[in-house]
Amino acid sequence: MQTPYVIIDLDIVETKFRELSEALHSTELCYAVKANPGKPVIERLAALGASFDVASVPEIDLVLSCGVEPARISFGNTIKKQRDIAYAAQQGITRFTVDTMSELHKVLAEAPQAEVCVRLFHDCEGADWPLSKKFGCGFADAKKILIAAGNAGCTTGISFHVGSQQRNLDAWLAPLQLCQQLITEVSQETVAPEFVNLGGGYPGSYLDDTPHISVYGDAIRKSLYDVFGGNTPRLMAEPGRYLVADAGTLHTEVVLVSERDIDARRWVYVDCGVFGGLAETLGESIRYRLHTEHDASAPASQIVLAGPTCDSADIIYDKAGYFLPDNLQVGEVIRIASTGAYTTSYSAIGFNGFAPLAQGYINIVAMKEPAV
Ligand SMILES: Cc1ncc(COP(=O)(O)O)c(C=O)c1O
Repeated sequence: MQTPYVIIDLDIVETKFRELSEALHSTELCYAVKANPGKPVIERLAALGASFDVASVPEIDLVLSCGVEPARISFGNTIKKQRDIAYAAQQGITRFTVDTMSELHKVLAEAPQAEVCVRLFHDCEGADWPLSKKFGCGFADAKKILIAAGNAGCTTGISFHVGSQQRNLDAWLAPLQLCQQLITEVSQETVAPEFVNLGGGYPGSYLDDTPHISVYGDAIRKSLYDVFGGNTPRLMAEPGRYLVADAGTLHTEVVLVSERDIDARRWVYVDCGVFGGLAETLGESIRYRLHTEHDASAPASQIVLAGPTCDSADIIYDKAGYFLPDNLQVGEVIRIASTGAYTTSYSAIGFNGFAPLAQGYINIVAMKEPAV
């Protein structure tokens, strides 16, 4: 296989699914397909009993083509064309997320028996890859939408997303308090919201350490208990990154090592950059672990790491302070760890003529008994 490419270890995907199922027990896990839409990934998760969060018609078709029943698919994107909602409904999908009244009207027009999930705004404080601002509504809007959906005969629930790669274990508490208050107030006017969707945010293993997933699970279950006591609603979650990040290793080749008179630093250019799948390094937000064949004790100095395209935004790490061995040579491969999430799915399809990031798999056939 020619670099750049990602190798996904499907056994690690399975282990992650089992660990998260245990950490958030009694929670329906809907894998956020956008994190890695590789068919073997979906098939392995489907065989384990996962449900799926999809964002578009192609993701719906992909998940259905893996034999997943429509009842296990949730159309979680809050920004949907009405014809796409109609398509989803024709396929038998009944679960839709909205954060505006106008989106609810589209859903009611095309899928009158829908299970409607209303997404609350979260500021994503503490997340390395925040998802705030663009999504979610405040308490007052959420209440109105939940009442309208309930009055229209829909089953309802509430979701939020604390931001991707969330490092604050208490981030789930405040939105859960809002959910509880909404359930109380809405149930005075119409059917009570039935479920809470805990969203994503569970971490991959990058340079900055995060606690084990069981510690996240303990914190979230404590928040649930503090808010709902023994009366917890039906729970869902939409993990993306956690299930696939650590299962992937990206292999990229050194194309050029240079020192130029305009900059004292060494620049290392590799064949996979920001446009080739490393989009989450924008703003140096996600800091991957880099490995070379050189001994860890070999002399090393600080570098700037950049991609191969003719675009000056294609700089992977500059200020983050990465070191690489001084005798790193052109043609060597750098392995970038925990690159199974948001890499192949972010890769451009042909910017500067470079092929999209390829993906291969190991442990493709081994299957153990279902986790749930
Ligand atoms: C609606 C929705 N759900 C779930 C996820 C997955 O989040 P994460 O990868 O942090 O688990 C995302 C990520 O963008 C999302 O947009």
